[in-house]
Amino acid sequence: MSHHDQNLDPAAELRANVARPFEEARAMPRSVYTSEAFCAQEIESIFRKQWIAVGRVDGLCEPGDFITYELAGQPIMVLRDAGGALRAQSNVCLHRMSTLLAGEGKTRAITCPYHGWTYNLDGTLRGAPAMGLNKGFCKAGYQLPQIRCEEWMGWVMITLDPEATPLAESLSEVGAMIADYGLEDYRQSFREEHIWNTNWKVLAENFMESYHLPVCHAGTIGGFSKLEEMHCPPSHPAFNYHTIVKDDTLPLSVAHPGNTRLHGEQRNVTYLLTIYPSLMITLTPGYFWYLSLHPQGPDHVRIVFGGGLSPDFASDPKAQGYFDTFKTLLDEVNVEDKGCTERVYRGLCSGLSEPGHLSHLERPNYDFATWISEKVG
Ligand code: FES
Ligand SMILES: [Fe+2]
Repeated sequence: MSHHDQNLDPAAELRANVARPFEEARAMPRSVYTSEAFCAQEIESIFRKQWIAVGRVDGLCEPGDFITYELAGQPIMVLRDAGGALRAQSNVCLHRMSTLLAGEGKTRAITCPYHGWTYNLDGTLRGAPAMGLNKGFCKAGYQLPQIRCEEWMGWVMITLDPEATPLAESLSEVGAMIADYGLEDYRQSFREEHIWNTNWKVLAENFMESYHLPVCHAGTIGGFSKLEEMHCPPSHPAFNYHTIVKDDTLPLSVAHPGNTRLHGEQRNVTYLLTIYPSLMITLTPGYFWYLSLHPQGPDHVRIVFGGGLSPDFASDPKAQGYFDTFKTLLDEVNVEDKGCTERVYRGLCSGLSEPGHLSHLERPNYDFATWISEKVG
């Protein structure tokens, strides 16, 4: 009987998979990518509990700037309120429960598109037409449920778990490690949303190893970094990372001449950070880009994709031109990653597929698998 016929519980299969030491490790079992039940477990045990990035704070500067997001089935709006605070709240009307805001933008008040109940930016009800005859109705009794929201390194992060550890605490080590980059001051110049036909973990894993760069990205950036110069240390409890060294083929990848925060070799080092569960950050001395992932069923991943320049490049008049060139390249890189990760999904859905052994360059993948296994339990 083959391994596939045993009909094991995916969580049990994953436990067995990560029980092997890294030196003998194999990729995760197929079922954790394809099972509807496992995907539902991930939503409950991971996405309903962890901090998830919805975007960068520089898109939410002024009162009324808002962004919407759906986290674990809950529509959420994140906005800058009239008092200047960042606020996340339910994006569902308190009348007959329509969703309220869509997409992103700027608004003075939140008006329901169904019967016009209107809310202040702090979620309190401002007005509701033709409700005066209902003796139970009292405007003051209504406020949209509030959701925890924190800023970390310039990202707006939300969680549905009132007990979640504050980010400054759980991410203090990564914060210290990259402190010299000044990432909180990097400016976002684009934010896009995409949906790819692959499991969210396939894309997460693709991000956390640079083993695929020379081949998958042979048409673009494959030649920029050498496998020998990739450093994949063991992970931390809340994140993993690896680093690669870049030469100045791409002027934005290395520190700006005016950058006095970074010294020596660090001026050429790119960090690839995975903040568990699903914020993936490429941090270079000159620019950054990120993906924030959310499952949409086992077979699709919803992606927020954004990025921009470090402050020293942002104030360099030539840099935006460099960045536009770079964004074109990045889009091509993403087409390559889309191809690779969608091919993996097709492959792992097939009857004859089996997970193979991992390279030492896939250390973060192993640690990610271990983390998933612990959370899903
Ligand atoms: S559902 Fe929003 S006003 Fe009726
Ligand atoms: Fe890639």
